[in-house]
Amino acid sequence: MTGNPVGTPIPASGNEGRSLGEDTAALLSWYAANRRILPWREDPAPYHVWLSEIMLQQTKVEAAEGYYARFMKELPDIPALAASDEELCLKLWEGLGYYSRVRNLRRAAIIVCGKYGGVLPDTAEELVKLPGIGRYTASAIASIACGRKCPAVDGNLLRIFARVTGYEENIRTDEAYRQACSFYLMMMDSVDPEACPTDNPYGDINQALMDLGAKVCIPRGTPDCGCCPLSRSCRAHLENRTEELPRAAGTKQRRAEDRTVFILRSADRVAVRKRPPKGLLAGLYEFPNVPGHLTGEEALEYLKERKLPAVWIRPAGDARHVFSHVEWNMTGYEVRIDEFPENGAEGDGLIYISAAELEERYPVPEAFRAYRKLIVQERIRK
Ligand code: ADE
Repeated sequence: MTGNPVGTPIPASGNEGRSLGEDTAALLSWYAANRRILPWREDPAPYHVWLSEIMLQQTKVEAAEGYYARFMKELPDIPALAASDEELCLKLWEGLGYYSRVRNLRRAAIIVCGKYGGVLPDTAEELVKLPGIGRYTASAIASIACGRKCPAVDGNLLRIFARVTGYEENIRTDEAYRQACSFYLMMMDSVDPEACPTDNPYGDINQALMDLGAKVCIPRGTPDCGCCPLSRSCRAHLENRTEELPRAAGTKQRRAEDRTVFILRSADRVAVRKRPPKGLLAGLYEFPNVPGHLTGEEALEYLKERKLPAVWIRPAGDARHVFSHVEWNMTGYEVRIDEFPENGAEGDGLIYISAAELEERYPVPEAFRAYRKLIVQERIRK
């Protein structure tokens, strides 16, 4: 290995001989002056931190804030979440994607109420046993909400670690994760309690690094090293190698799937169906769709076979949605049906709902956004 082995001091060449303790103090001062004001930071109760961390796993802070406020208003504490309807949770999550996050959140709340009297455990070791809480999230909650000394190492912290220490190996490995943890634990150990600007240094170190990773030590483009509290010790900065580090190999290939989506309408209603309880977008509602790109004629034939003969059909445009492992390349048809069967009658599990119900009650994933918009915008125009 050619990188700086964690545990040895970062060389003093050009860094004015700063110790790790001085870097840590600089990081905490930077955070005190530059921290983003976020609702869950103002009152870092365990439930608040937990919800925010789950939302932020795949969602940017700016996008999560509105969702966080709405979720808190509807389900202000763990017992309320445990007692909630799963469909309400999915509706509150609509548009955020990765819906297993909210399903697990609710399942975990039920466990917390059953096993821990409604109080979230305060150690990473216990937290990680709950559904949807991995080692990163457990450490984030335990440090930010409970003051525990545990680094919350995600992609941001791995990147900062690799740049600061000049770590040359692939960061997407267990070994890199272990090295990053031990580096950040040393950072936490180096806090000087006498000169510390915060009463939660461990939680604040994690959050300072999160903000640094989001705003300064960014993954693409040029990092803003001039503003970075760690730049005087940062190997990548001192050696002009921020473009090279971190090294990351092994991105997974995505499978591409073509699909045809039907916006079936009759009078003021539209057809949707609930997806199966397991797998991609489980339990959410979708417009009926089939594999492949059907021509207009094939689409008409398909609908006729399903006893949904069309009065007219027109293209509803193409859309693409990228999931983590698969991408959908969709082509849509808007179809006028003379009369829908009764709700609950046989028909591929279709239900027939109004535009208002589509907007207010049924959770529809972001993948169908372009098609959902056709219905919702028309409702607004009426
Ligand atoms: N990303 C994940 N957790 C975060 C937090 N607590 N603050 C800012 N960004 C984050």
